[in-house]
Order: sequence, then C-alpha cells, then structure tokens
Amino acid sequence: MADIAHREKVRALDLDLRRRAAAVIPGGMYGHMTVGRLPDEYPQFYDRSEGAHVWDVDGNEYVDFMCSFGPMILGYRHTRVEAAAASQAARGDTQPGPAPCMVELAELLVERVAHADWALFAKNGSDATTTSLMVARAETGRNKVLAAAGAYHGAAPWATLRMDGVAPEERANLHYYEYNDAASVERAIDEAGADNVAAIITSPFKHDAGFDQEDVDPAFARRLRELCDELDAALVMDEVRAGFRLNHGGSWERLGVEPDLSAWSKAIANGYPLAAVLGRGRYAEAATRIFVTGSFWFQAVPMAAAVATIHALRDEDAVATMERVGNRLRDEFDRLAEDIGVEIRQTGPVRCRISASRTTTST
Ligand SMILES: Cc1ncc(COP(=O)(O)O)c(C=O)c1O
Repeated sequence: MADIAHREKVRALDLDLRRRAAAVIPGGMYGHMTVGRLPDEYPQFYDRSEGAHVWDVDGNEYVDFMCSFGPMILGYRHTRVEAAAASQAARGDTQPGPAPCMVELAELLVERVAHADWALFAKNGSDATTTSLMVARAETGRNKVLAAAGAYHGAAPWATLRMDGVAPEERANLHYYEYNDAASVERAIDEAGADNVAAIITSPFKHDAGFDQEDVDPAFARRLRELCDELDAALVMDEVRAGFRLNHGGSWERLGVEPDLSAWSKAIANGYPLAAVLGRGRYAEAATRIFVTGSFWFQAVPMAAAVATIHALRDEDAVATMERVGNRLRDEFDRLAEDIGVEIRQTGPVRCRISASRTTTST
C-alpha cells in the first residue's frame, strides 16, 4: 500500500495525463505508442531534457540511457546543433522548397559514407527503408525482397510487427532468412526465385527488440554482398538504428562490405525529424523515377541540425566516446550485478564487439 501511495504521489501528473489520454487517444498510451507497454513505474510524459538527463512531468529526473529511443546521439540541447537549428529557424523552416542546407547535407553524407553517391531525404526510418526498397524494385524491375526473420524495419504495412490492419498481400513479396545464416539466405532465394529478387535488406548487426543481440559474422556480410552481386540485386542496409554509432560512415565499412542502398534516420539530426536514403550511382536514375514525397520532407531546420550533428559527431570523436563510456557502463553493470548476486546478460555491440562473459539484453 505504501508503495502505491508513494507512486501515486511521485507520478500524479503522469497518471492524470495517462487517464486523459485514454479518453481521447485510441488505447491511450498503450495503443500507438509502444512506450505504453513499459512497466507502470516508467514515466510516459516528459517536461524537459538537457544533456543526458530528462525530467518527467512530475519533476523526477532520469539519465536517459535510451537516448529517446535512439535519436539523441549527442545528448539533449547540444549547443552546436541547437545553434544551427535556431539560426535556420530564424530564416525559415517549412517553405515552398528546401533551403540550401539540403544540398550541403547531401554533400556531407556523400563525403562521409563510402557507398553513397547521392542522398534523398524523408522524415522517419520507415520512409527510408520503404523508399530504399522502391528504388531497388524500380532499378531491377523485380518485386521480391529478402529480409531477416524478426528484424524490425519500420511501421509501414510491409514491415510492421503486427498484422492487424495489414492485408496479407502486403507481405506477398517478402521472403525471410535467418540473420548470420548464409544457407538460409540461399534457401530464401530459391523460394523467391533467383530472377525475381530485387533486394536483400539487412542490418549492421542483429538487433531484434526483446532478444539477445548478435554481432554480424563478417563471412555472412561478405556472402550477402556476393549473393547480391550474383543476383544483380540491391544490398540494402537498414542503418536507422545503428547509423553513426558503430562507425562514422557505413557500419560495414570496417568489414570492407558496402551496400548499394542504405536507410538512415534516428541519430542523423540529434532529435530533429529527418531520414535519408543513400545510394550508389547505379541507383540514381531509379531514385529519380519513383514517386515519394511528403508535405514536411523539405523542412529546413532538421537538415541544418543534421549538418551540425554530423560535423559534431566527427569533431567530438563520438564513436570512440560511445565505445569508451559503453564499456565502462557495462563493466559497472557487471560489477553491480555481481555485488548483489544477480545474473545478467549484456549483448549487442559496444562498437560491435561482444564479450563472451557478458551474456541484461541491451537495445
Ligand atoms: C532498424 C530500424 N529500422 C527502421 C525503424 C523505423 O524507424 P521510424 O520509427 O523512424 O519509422 C526503426 C525504428 O526503431 C529501426 O530500429
């Protein structure tokens, strides 16, 4: 009882907002925000944020290890990013066409990501993964796509995790393989028919939500590249979650494997809404032909923020910093767990390295 009374006190505004949301938002927070599935103790509504810290509506302060589900790679209200965003906002944001910073951003991405000869922009990761597959289909004239079973590539009907409201036909052109299992990719190719495969979509490492994560086997990465070359199909890398975290550039560049197309979002603009598709020259003509757009896709402020974010990521040596503090965090979690006698498992990369002794699933 004391616990419930305490929770009601420290969560009074949050609980009230949840009740009001339930009346006017389908399912309340449980419906269209998966955050609603988190335990009751987890706050749902936030008031402000600064650096690595967030404050919920009741004034409780937290360290946001989730980085706001990924986008806040440099921390909240990063000075350089906010200055660039404010400077662009003072001139204009949504206008009849893009601002010059769109070209600057495309040039910067082409410079930093090895396989990229061009960039086009959207809002969400789902836009970017979906657009990548449209480009692959337009270029190859084929329909089938191979994806890893259990992988998340967004909330578009072809990718969403639940089938409610989705026509089975939306999945008719998808065939599934197991991540890190080349034989299963070959089986999926046979199933799809080698002449029908437009693309194989994959991710920098196996990061299915709610499961142990797994680094990519370099031999698997190389085999995917070979298979795409044999099929003359596009290798599409979903960089939405991992992009600019494992490497300042494409995540598989360190393995010597480059995709044909890649989908980016989350961290590229440090919290401002932006996504990008990057691609090789061969796919530029197809990217010109497909029809993709949105009323807000040419917003200037997120693009100005992205230019500043990408420069800051390199200037602050962000990948090395994430590796250093990530390892420290893991060591401390291990130490704490040992101190209190709780067995934990930590999986997934601190710069794509999995320690065998670490077995708490992190996302
Ligand atoms: C790997 C991956 N791809 C695509 C998406 C979809 O991105 P968004 O939620 O911005 O549409 C996500 C989102 O979590 C993701 O993790």
